[in-house]
Amino acid sequence: MDKPRPLVEVYNLKKYFPVKGVKGPGVRAVEDVSFTISRGETLGLVGESGCGKTTLGRTLLQLYPPTAGRIVYDGVTLFEGEDPFRPGGPGRAARHTCADMLPYRRKMQIIFQDPSASLDPRMTVGEIIGQAIDIHRLADTRAQRAQRIGELLARVGLNPAQAGCYPHEFSGGQQQRVGIARALAVEPEFLVCDEPISALDVSIQSQVINMLEDMQAQLGLTYLFIAHDLSVVRHISTRIGVMYLGRLVELAPSDELSGHPLHPYTRTLLSAVPVPDPRASRERKRIVLRGELPSPVHPPAGCPFHTRCPYAFSRCGEEPPPFREHAPGRWAACHLLN
Ligand SMILES: Nc1ncnc2c1ncn2[C@@H]1O[C@H](COP(=O)(O)OP(=O)(O)OP(=O)(O)O)[C@@H](O)[C@H]1O
Ligand SMILES: [Mg+2]
Repeated sequence: MDKPRPLVEVYNLKKYFPVKGVKGPGVRAVEDVSFTISRGETLGLVGESGCGKTTLGRTLLQLYPPTAGRIVYDGVTLFEGEDPFRPGGPGRAARHTCADMLPYRRKMQIIFQDPSASLDPRMTVGEIIGQAIDIHRLADTRAQRAQRIGELLARVGLNPAQAGCYPHEFSGGQQQRVGIARALAVEPEFLVCDEPISALDVSIQSQVINMLEDMQAQLGLTYLFIAHDLSVVRHISTRIGVMYLGRLVELAPSDELSGHPLHPYTRTLLSAVPVPDPRASRERKRIVLRGELPSPVHPPAGCPFHTRCPYAFSRCGEEPPPFREHAPGRWAACHLLN
């Protein structure tokens, strides 16, 4: 039997932010990223601060207009555009016609990194959740709408009687639950979870993770789950993608990526993950990267990681390594593997 088509397909996606006074593409926040996500799957996405995770998530949902590439959702091409900065290209971002996004805005939702900044402080949580219901006309009567708001609050573990409260009256963890209820209000299929727990106390992080996992099981949701840290995504992801300076450098099933990483950058990320056994921890060497993260305005030539890679050789500074499938389902971009 043929494999079912992935729910989300991303090919050679690029997102550049123009920089005042700088000619050319500016900040290359997302550079030529390709991956797919199957229905019901969780794809984890990790990488250090500034590597482009949030930009990738938002560009995939077209909250930011993509610069180039192709985005396909459930078999429908939502965006397709050529790189305006390619040799001979127009040199500035072009407008592209896409499929009508409104139905897809409903199917694809996001949970934001900072819960307090993502909720309007002047609206009650009932109004915040109700607004999402109104935009997509998901309730016929006021009573239906109020009932739905109550159900959503209960589903995320909040008291429906708190619908009249303002965001500042809730704790950080509760605010994140409101953000999740707002995303769920429109009955989405696909959720970008952008570091949904990193602003929360450690004690409530696992509660929110468990809730997201339960929701996935009950509602059949598909996740792109963004985190700084491999230890967070390891357990909940089917597969994990590792980003460095706007590029995906490795993509593999979670246990294979953790047990047998192919890319030197993934190895450094893994060496930073705490292990519970103190002896194993002492025996394991933590790899400390030399140098700073290069600027995405002037990324290094060749492999983006070569300036910090302990194994770099001459070719690494000259040619970018292709992102290739080295074994079934195991993708990586590194000259050492070729
Ligand atoms: N709206 C924007 N305008 C200009 N540059 C931006 C914008 N958003 C992000 N950038 C730049 O794009 C790059 C990637 O940023 P992004 O926020 O996607 O990283 P991140 O991986 O999510 O980081 P963090 O882990 O800190 O959230 C950074 O260099 C950032 O400064
Ligand atoms: Mg981010």
